[in-house]
Amino acid sequence: CGIVGYVGSRDATEVVINGLQRLEYRGYDSAGIAIYDPTIGLQLRRSVGKLHNLQQRLAAEPTRGQIGIGHTRWATHGGVTEINAHPHRDASGTIVVIQNGIVENYLQLKGRLIELGYQFESQTDTEVIAKLVGLYYHQHRDLVTAVRQTLQELRGGNAIVAFCIHEPDTLVAARLGNAGGVVIGLGDNEQFIASDIPAILDYTRNLIFLEDRDVAVVRRHEVTITHLDGTPVERAIHAIPWDPIAAAKGDYRHFMQKEIDEQPRALMDVLRGRIDQEHGRIELTDIRLSDADLRRVRRIYAVACGTAWHAGLVAKFLIEQLARVRVEVDYASEFRYRNPILQSDDERDALLLAITQSGETVDTLAAMEEARNQGVSSVAIVNAIGSQAARLADGGPIYLHAGPEIGVASTKAFTSMLVAAYLFALRLAQARGTLTPAQIREHIQALIELPGKAAQTIEQTTPLCIKLAERYHKASNALFLGRQINYPIALEGALKLKEISYIHAEGYPAGEMKHGPIALIDEQMPVICIAPRDHIYEKMVSNIEQVRARHGQVIAIGHLGDELLAEKAHHLIGVPATLPLLQPVLNVIPLQIFAYHVAVLRGCDADQPRNLAKSVTVE
Ligand code: G6P
Repeated sequence: CGIVGYVGSRDATEVVINGLQRLEYRGYDSAGIAIYDPTIGLQLRRSVGKLHNLQQRLAAEPTRGQIGIGHTRWATHGGVTEINAHPHRDASGTIVVIQNGIVENYLQLKGRLIELGYQFESQTDTEVIAKLVGLYYHQHRDLVTAVRQTLQELRGGNAIVAFCIHEPDTLVAARLGNAGGVVIGLGDNEQFIASDIPAILDYTRNLIFLEDRDVAVVRRHEVTITHLDGTPVERAIHAIPWDPIAAAKGDYRHFMQKEIDEQPRALMDVLRGRIDQEHGRIELTDIRLSDADLRRVRRIYAVACGTAWHAGLVAKFLIEQLARVRVEVDYASEFRYRNPILQSDDERDALLLAITQSGETVDTLAAMEEARNQGVSSVAIVNAIGSQAARLADGGPIYLHAGPEIGVASTKAFTSMLVAAYLFALRLAQARGTLTPAQIREHIQALIELPGKAAQTIEQTTPLCIKLAERYHKASNALFLGRQINYPIALEGALKLKEISYIHAEGYPAGEMKHGPIALIDEQMPVICIAPRDHIYEKMVSNIEQVRARHGQVIAIGHLGDELLAEKAHHLIGVPATLPLLQPVLNVIPLQIFAYHVAVLRGCDADQPRNLAKSVTVE
C-alpha cells in the first residue's frame, strides 16, 4: 500500500493526490484521503479502483485544507470495497488512520473492542487501529500517547499515520517492524510523510527514514522523533540525489518502457566508482567486510523474492564460478520458516546475500533477521536508499543506484542486480585470489563495455520483439527454456510475460523439458530458447530440435549473426556477445521488451498488472 501525508500551507489535497499518483504502483485496488480545515472540518473521500476514480470523486466533491493524509490500498484483510478503503475512523469520527501492514492479532483486539461496545463498519485490521487510537485518545487527550499505546498492543508490522481534529496541526507517523518504510520529507514550514520517496520528491529531497519502533510527531514547523517508549531519538537527515524527473513518465506511455530504456544508464551507474580500470581492481567500498572477512566465507545464502530471486539464481553461478564459494539460493518466504542451519558454532563462515529492489519486502527482511539471530553477517544488494534492508545489512548495502523503479514488473533493477552481484563476486575473487589479475582485467573490460551493448540490444531487438509480439500475443501458453546461467533468465522471461500479459508462461531448464513440459508443445506454442554460444550451446541446439520435432514455434535468443541458430529457429533475436557469465544481462532485455509489447497488444496495463504490488510488505 502507499501512504502520503502533508502539513503546511499548500493545498493538502493536491499534495496528497500528487503523492498518491506517484505511489499508485504500490497498490491500486482502492484509494482514499482525509483532509482537514478548521472551518469545514474533516473531509473523507474514498473510492474503489484506481486513483483516477478517487480523483473523479474529488472533482465532484472537492476537499479543502492544509493538512491531510492519503492511501492507496492493496487488499489484505477484507475485500475491495469503499468501506474497506483507508482512511479509517475512530468511534467519535475525530481521528483518522491509514496503515501499511498487517495487524496479526486484530481479531483478538477487535473482539475486545466489540465487548466494550464498539461497532465496526469495515472488515479491515486498520479500523481496529483507528478505534484503539480513539479509545486511548479519549483517556489521555494526546494523539502521540494514544498512538504509542496502540502500537504497543499490535502484533505484526505496521506503518501508520494518524490525525485528530483536536490537534489540527499535527500528524503522527510510526513504524513498527518491517511492514514498509516511513519517510519524512522536510520542507520549509511544511512537512511531508510517505511510504516511498518518489511520492514527495517533487517537494523536498531532505529525508528522514523512520526505523523500527520510531514514532514521529510531524508539525508544520518541526518534526520530533521518539522511540515507542517515548525516549527521544536522533535520526540523520539524508539528502537524496534523485532527480524528480526520474520518477516521472515523461513521453513514455508506461514506466516499464521507460525503465527498460534506462538500462544502459542504470548499468553505468551501478558500475560507477566501483572499478579501478587502471589498476585492474574492484573497489566495492560499500561493503564493510575486510579481505580477511571475505576469505573466511565458505558459504553464501542468497535470499530474495520474485524477480530478485532470479537475480539470486544468477548470483550463484557468478560467485561459484568466479570466487569458488558455495551458494545456496532460497526464496525468502521459505528460508525464514525452515529453521535453516546456516553455520556450525565453531565455524563462523557463512554470509547472507539479500537481494531486493525496494529493500522493504517483508520476507526478505525476515530472512535477514534470521541470519542476524544466528550470528551471520549480511550484505544486501538493494536499490532503495535508506530502506530497511540497507540498514539491516551489517556487511553493508551494495546500492544499485538505478533510480526509482515504478513499473511493477522489475526491469532495470533486475539487470542492475546482476551487475552488482558480478561486482560482488569479483570482489570476493580478488580477496580470495581465485582469479589472476589478468582475468580480473578481462572481467572489468567486459563490464565497461556492457552498458553500450545493452543500448545496442535495445535498439536492435525492439523491432523484431514488436513483430513477434504482434504474431504471438494471442497465445494462451508460452514456454521459456534456458540452461545453466541462462536458466534463471528463462524463469525471468516467463515471469515478465505472465505477470503483465496474463499469458500462462513457464520457465524451464531446457534439459528437463523432456520430463514434462514437452507434452504441452504444439504448433500454437511459442517456445523461447536462450542459446548463446557458451559451453552448453550444442546441448541447447539439440533441445531446440526436440521442440521443432513437436512443431513448437521456436524463438531463439542468441548471438548476433549466429547462422546455425537462425536456421534451426523460426525466429532469431540476436544480441551482442559478452563474457558468458555476463550474457544473461543482455539476454533478458529482449524478453522484457517482448513481454511489454504483448501486454500492450492485449490491452493490459503493463505498469499496474492486476493483483500485484511493487513492494510486498505483508506476508
Ligand atoms: C513484488 C514485485 C516484483 C519484485 C518482488 C520482490 O512481487 O512485483 O517485481 O521482484 O516483489 O521485490 P523486491 O523489492 O524485494 O526486489
